[in-house]
Parts: sequence; C-alpha cells; structure tokens
Amino acid sequence: MITGNLQTAAYLFASILFILSLGGLSSQESAKKGVFYGIIGMIIAILSTIMGESVQGHAYILVAIAIAAIIGIVVARKVEMTSMPQLVAILHSFVGLAAVLVGYGSFINPGEAHADPEFATAMERIHLVEVYLGVFIGAITFTGSIIAWGKLEGKIMSKPLLYPGRHAINILLVIITLTMMVLFTLDAGLSQWTYLYIMTAIAAFIGVMLVMAIGGADMPVVVSMLNSYSGWAAAAAGFMLGNDLLIVTGALVGSSGAILSIIMCRAMNRSFISVILGGFGGVAVASTKEMEGEVTSITHDEVAELLKESSSLVIVPGYGMAVAKAQYPVYDLVDILRKAGKKVRFGIHPVAGRLPGHMNVLLAEANVPYDIVLEMEEINEDLPETDVVMVIGANDIVNPGAQDDPGSPIYGMPVIEVWNAKKVIVMKRSMAAGYAGVENPLFYKENADMLYGDAKDSVDKINMALRR
Ligand code: TAP
Repeated sequence: MITGNLQTAAYLFASILFILSLGGLSSQESAKKGVFYGIIGMIIAILSTIMGESVQGHAYILVAIAIAAIIGIVVARKVEMTSMPQLVAILHSFVGLAAVLVGYGSFINPGEAHADPEFATAMERIHLVEVYLGVFIGAITFTGSIIAWGKLEGKIMSKPLLYPGRHAINILLVIITLTMMVLFTLDAGLSQWTYLYIMTAIAAFIGVMLVMAIGGADMPVVVSMLNSYSGWAAAAAGFMLGNDLLIVTGALVGSSGAILSIIMCRAMNRSFISVILGGFGGVAVASTKEMEGEVTSITHDEVAELLKESSSLVIVPGYGMAVAKAQYPVYDLVDILRKAGKKVRFGIHPVAGRLPGHMNVLLAEANVPYDIVLEMEEINEDLPETDVVMVIGANDIVNPGAQDDPGSPIYGMPVIEVWNAKKVIVMKRSMAAGYAGVENPLFYKENADMLYGDAKDSVDKINMALRR
C-alpha cells in the first residue's frame, strides 16, 4: 500500500515521463528513448494506482492485467507492420468502451463525489456532468474506431458515405443530447438511466456516421482524430475516477492527437473542421478525365543500366514497399549506388503508407541514414534536376491528378511531383489504383515507365544486375 502523498509524487513523475516520451517520439534519433520513457512511466502509473489506499480487489486486477498483457503481447508480435493502423484503431475502440463502462460504474457508485456535505449537491451535479460527457465521448470513440478499423481492414467500403441532410441530423442529435444532459443532471423528467441509455445509443450512432462520412485519402486524419478522441475519453474517465494521472495522460493523448490531425489536414490540404465534422463540404465529383498517352514498361536490366548512367536519383516509397517488405533490398540498392558515387535521396510524403511516419519507420528499420531522407516540400524543389525517380509501391502520393484534375477525389492534396524528373520508374504489380481508388495519369506520361512485379523481388533483381 502507498499513501496519498507518495501516490501523488509517483503520478507526477509518471506524467513527466509521458511528456518526455512524447518529446522523444518527435524525431527518429530519439524515438527509442521516447518509447523507453513511456514504458517506465506506464509501469509506475499502473503500480502506483493499484497499490493505492482506496483500491480493493487486487487479485482481480492482477489477473485482468496478466490476461490483457498476454493478449497484447501475442497480438503485437503477430501483427504485420501494414496492419498497424487497424490495430491502433481497434485499441482506440477499447479506450472508448472503457470510458463508457467507467461512466456507468461511476454513476452506480459515485465514490467520493458526495463526500463533502456542504457542497454535496454541487459536487453531485458536477460528477453527473462528468459521467454524461465521459460516456458520450467514449461511445463516439468506441463505434467510430470500429468503423475506422473496418475501413482500414477493407471490411467496409472506404468511400465516404455522404447522404443528404446528414449535417442537420447530426446537429439535431447533438441538441437532443445536450438537452438530455441538463435533465439528467437535474434528475428531472424520465429516469436518469433512461437518459444515459438513450444518449449512449445516440453517441454510438454519431460515431458510426462521422467516420462513415470520411474515407479514401482522408483516412489518415480519421486515425489521428480517433487517437485524439480516445485521449479525451481517457481524460473524462480520469475526472470520473478522480485520478489526476489519467486526466493528465488523457489530455496529453487528446491534444497530441489533435495536433497530429491538424498536421495531417495540412498535408492533405483539407480543412480540419470539415474533416472532423465528417466530410463537411468535402463532396468530390467523380473524375471524368480520359487518360491521355500510352503506358510503357521497362525491364529490370534496363533499369539497372539507366541507374548506372544517372548521377542523381530519388526514391519515393509508398504502401507497396511496406507490403513487399522491400526496405532491406532498397537499403542495399542505396548502398551500391552511393558507393558508385551517385547522389541518392528519399522523398517522403506525409501520408505515404497507412500510418503517420510509416515510411520513416521502415527506412530507419533498414538502417537508411536519416540525412538522405527528405520531406515532400524539400524534394519537390530538386526534382527537375533529378535524373531518375524510382517510385516504389506508391500511387496516390505521386498522382498528378491531385494538381490538375478538379474532378479527382484527391484534388488539392499536395503530391510529390515525380513527373518533373528526367525519368520516372514506377514499381508496382499492376495498373491497379491506390488507396483512394483513383486512376493515376502518371503511368501514361512520356517520361514514365512501369516496372511490374513485387517491389522486393524487383529491387532484388535490379541489385543483382547492378552487381554483375
Ligand atoms: P497507395 O496509393 O495505397 O498505393 C500503393 C500501391 O502499392 C498500390 O497501387 C499497389 O499497386 C502497390 N503495391 C501493393 N503491394 C505491392 C507489392 N507487393 N509490390 C509492389 N507494389 C505493391 O499508397 P501510397 O502512395 O503510399 O499512398 C497512401 C494512401 O493511403 C493515400 O491515399 C493516403 O491518404 C492513404 N492512407 C494513409 C494513411 C497514413 S496515416 N499514411 C492512413 C490511411 C490511409 P499494385 O496492386 O498494382 O501492386
């Protein structure tokens, strides 16, 4: 058992470690240290909470933690890097569900909320508002995350579901929810449980509809937005339980998720408000633009020859590189070319792959030096002076339609302007579209050649040809 003061000190220490962890995660060099701080902070947080004076039923808690830890370890070891966003989405849904259950539990047993007789009524009402808001945010996070999981896993169509009058319906539902909050808090009209149940159903419906209305290339924002919601749900649970650490941690996750959503929106050139309101104003007209030009292909040996003759090269990786796990042979390719005196760099799009920083993580895993990994804006300037661009398993992020086809669903999204280079090699298995489901006019450009096949296999073959 630890006393209140010691617990407060432990909470403070854990909060500092969480802040250091977030700071560490902001750059590749310090990311490992950031994860380490997070782990230590979480161990301190869990131990100091379950060893607290007011906690009962330690045996149950320890058994629950042990079961959850085993499930967590098994799932995390098994999950493919490409399925990480789905895992994150489903984990967010657990946070949402936990907030709903904590809300119900806290309503049944308010604990110390009524402790001070002088302020009993005021405290009770504040507590009821906390319960109501906690359950509301939790239920939205729960169902929204399940829909996001379905969309990322390909179980639900990724296309946004836009039906007429959806904003009016959402606004009406929010007004009903707020009115019920007042009645619930004052214990007027129907029974409090009735309000709680109806509100939970409404929030669950809003969660489904908000995420159903966003899709295609806007999915990165949904993932980071639900990350933020799950933080606020945890903070709400912290208020209900009177647990300061949970409030601080929830607020850290909530605000960092919101900042990430804003960064993602900037990267996609989308309005933050329009995305969080569920595709407000984001109606795209289906593209009717005919593809002009002819698709030409190239062989592995020809690519190797081209690389031998070139002096500057840019590699633009995308989701296909992650699927093929091609980062390791890509590292070898870079090594061979750099040893031959060529200038090789990477151009990374902020939403390449399926999760924020996806490409940076893969390249770091394969030991690619950080200083040759450049961001989209930096590399775009240099592309007209580049001899060859190799697009490895990327599609939407190099689609010129985002700049010149107003009918395209990704119109307005900044892209890596690979077509400005002297030669572009597009490495993918077929002519299939990318995540947003849009055709790519890049494949038809005169200076672009397709190199069909699995990305890892193709890079291996190019490496072999270069070594001959
Ligand atoms: P995509 O546009 O999804 O294109 C990936 C391409 O990789 C596909 O066209 C596919 O073509 C190819 N591919 C798949 N497996 C391959 C393999 N084994 N070998 C070679 N190629 C393979 O990817 P992107 O360009 O990275 O763009 C990301 C997209 O995902 C954006 O629309 C973005 O909005 C969305 N998104 C991003 C995130 C985050 S946070 N980054 C989250 C959710 C959604 P083939 O089938 O012809 O091979």
